[in-house]
Amino acid sequence: MDKEMSIKLIEKYIKEENMRKHCLAVGAIMKELASFLNENEEKWEIIGLLHDLDYAETKNNPEKHGLITAKILKDKVDSEIIEIIKSHNFENLNIVPNKKESYGLIASDALSGLIIATALVMPSKKLSEVEVKSVKKKFKQKDFARNVSREKIMFCEKLGIDKDKFFEIGIKGLQSISKELGL
Ligand SMILES: [Fe+2]
Repeated sequence: MDKEMSIKLIEKYIKEENMRKHCLAVGAIMKELASFLNENEEKWEIIGLLHDLDYAETKNNPEKHGLITAKILKDKVDSEIIEIIKSHNFENLNIVPNKKESYGLIASDALSGLIIATALVMPSKKLSEVEVKSVKKKFKQKDFARNVSREKIMFCEKLGIDKDKFFEIGIKGLQSISKELGL
């Protein structure tokens, strides 16, 4: 599995444009995070890209989210990657995340939503305008992007990264694909 194949799978299984962008966004943050941690950038990026392949089929069945992706990916990626993807739905699948890649995925999945929502309320609606301090402010406003779990963003601490640093990493990751995101 490589990035190109991951994007082909996104195009095959995800029809909704915003959901495709969400997967690209999580892939970009995961890659940036891996680079910061000296981990395997390609592996982390692929995990981010592939984590929500079954979203359309499972949005009303959260107890299946991750399990259908596991079937799609069987024989295509290492079982370790499948387990990590399943672990981002730890609450519904009764899994205790315990790998760095899982912590990164859970945190990046949530942070992507907060940063994109922040970009959208900027006068320019551009990621280039988003700074750490803007995300910090929005993180504190509970009513802003309410379905973004602040608790999940804080999984960055399990990687030894404080939230300000994580915001910086997330902004950098998303800015690197601003064109693809149209932001
Ligand atoms: Fe996601």
